[in-house]
Amino acid sequence: MTAERRHAPPTQDELDLLHYQSRIERPVAAKIPEFSRDERLRHVIFSRQFSVELLEDLAGTADKIRALSKARAGQDFLIGLLSHKRAMLYFTQPSTRTFLSFMAACQILGITCNEVRDPSTSSETKGETRFDSIRMFSSYFDLIIMRSPVAKLAEACAYLMNDLAASGNRSVPIVNAGSGADQHPTQALLDIYTLQRTFQFTSPKDSPIGTRFDEIRRQYANLTRGLSRKVYGFCGDIGRGRTVRSLAELLAGYEGVSLVFVSPQHPALSLGDDMRSRLVNRGVRVFEVESLETPIDGRPVIETVDALYMTRIQKEHNDPADEATFAAIDFSKYKLNRDLVNRMKSYAPILHPFPRDQFFGEIPQEIDADPRAMYFRQARNGMWARAALLAHIFNVDHQISRYYHEHYE
Ligand code: CP
Repeated sequence: MTAERRHAPPTQDELDLLHYQSRIERPVAAKIPEFSRDERLRHVIFSRQFSVELLEDLAGTADKIRALSKARAGQDFLIGLLSHKRAMLYFTQPSTRTFLSFMAACQILGITCNEVRDPSTSSETKGETRFDSIRMFSSYFDLIIMRSPVAKLAEACAYLMNDLAASGNRSVPIVNAGSGADQHPTQALLDIYTLQRTFQFTSPKDSPIGTRFDEIRRQYANLTRGLSRKVYGFCGDIGRGRTVRSLAELLAGYEGVSLVFVSPQHPALSLGDDMRSRLVNRGVRVFEVESLETPIDGRPVIETVDALYMTRIQKEHNDPADEATFAAIDFSKYKLNRDLVNRMKSYAPILHPFPRDQFFGEIPQEIDADPRAMYFRQARNGMWARAALLAHIFNVDHQISRYYHEHYE
């Protein structure tokens, strides 16, 4: 932090969070139990709330929802499950995928949606605090799904709801749909779901090699099904990517994973110290390199990774002080091209949370037809994974399971 920044008066965002500061500053592990109720997620704030066991469970529910959605009878069953519930989509930061996939997920389960996307149309323009707005939403809706440019706002809203519940007032679940540069837990959920389906090697559409697992193993003898014992590459804007942070936290829960972070060596763009020590402390092999050509374990990163997660350079977060140093960086190293993709393992999916930046070109369109390009499938998976999460929160996942087993097995 610069001297000027240190002495600057607090922003309205900082003032808004002041009341919850002491709770926010605790370690994540200490907070997680407060976001559950009756052994279920109540509020979804951090990706670390998803244990490996819960991720398996949610993937199973998502698979069943997508299977049931193929037929009219299944759709009718799903739509009746939560038709008595209403959700508020409070998105005050731009979004295409998260907003629409949550809306579609709600519709699959019969939840009625409403939205506030532009705070200039709400009474925040008359001086109402965000917390008063949230409490008002909780008066009319049964769930608040929120995206905000303010880091920690969703977490603070979850504390507000817990305090309301403790004093006998109405309180509803909060789902963090992206909070500043901080966390994007449901993106990590759909990223994991995409990897789970890819590494099952059972669905022709979900894996670059389809169902040819046994054949591919002749070339890659160590290849196993599942997410464990794999090398995951992250490329681009590592320091400011909330999706990278959230997904890396989840991958760290799987056995024997290696995470390779490919970014410019710049304090704003490379892996943060806090993240690095958390991953290392959890037993993850962490590599930080400047290029996809850098060797790890004797081969270039691009030829080593079992999955590659590309990211956009998030120019909107550029600090004027960083602009001059960015000019010296060779950003071409953080763009894919056909030659690079041709050198990847044949079964390795390319993921990207999207949006991709057409002007920067981290994934040019010519890659889209490659079987390894999994990013559009990944975005669609978001709808199924988010529907599964809503079913979990509202405790109808067992009904889905029962119906599926009775009618489809
Ligand atoms: N991945 C993602 O969060 O996309 P949107 O910003 O379009 O929601």
